[in-house]
Amino acid sequence: MRHPSPVTRHASRILVLHGPNLNLLGEREPAIYGRMTLEELNDEIRGFAASRGIEVRIFQSNHEGTLIDLIHHHRRWADGIVINPGALTHYSYALRDAIAAVGVPTVEVHLSDIHSREPFRRVSVIKDVCIAQISGKGVGSYLEALELLSEVISAEETGAADG
Ligand code: DQA
Repeated sequence: MRHPSPVTRHASRILVLHGPNLNLLGEREPAIYGRMTLEELNDEIRGFAASRGIEVRIFQSNHEGTLIDLIHHHRRWADGIVINPGALTHYSYALRDAIAAVGVPTVEVHLSDIHSREPFRRVSVIKDVCIAQISGKGVGSYLEALELLSEVISAEETGAADG
């Protein structure tokens, strides 16, 4: 008799959050952030996610509380979170606490290289509650984060199935 196949879980689900001012991508300081609009960036993210069998939900907000609500709301849906917290990176303990509270593996991303800009940008209060920080690779920062999370999620599932 054949063994029943193991229960297949759903595709990895990743919540992608863009923080303050990222709605102005394309027109905002193009020398730093490039000419790609947020819609174009989201299309790249969706295309990459589709090619890897990852389900994504993408949001942008200029409001700290809205980003926190989105994290809370998706805490049982999301297997991982990719977040570009914008300037909230450098001072939002509330956002940090939200990420720590939900315990969903999270990757902090930045389009620009925050380590080679003004000194205040080198500090991230979010970093320590994330599994990685990826910065300075433009859209590549987001794609690398998706890739990393999908590896981490599959490793966790394999571990859970074995254990
Ligand atoms: C940013 C870097 C932040 O310092 C800045 O406040 C942003 C964008 C980036 O993607 O490079 O809004 O997160």
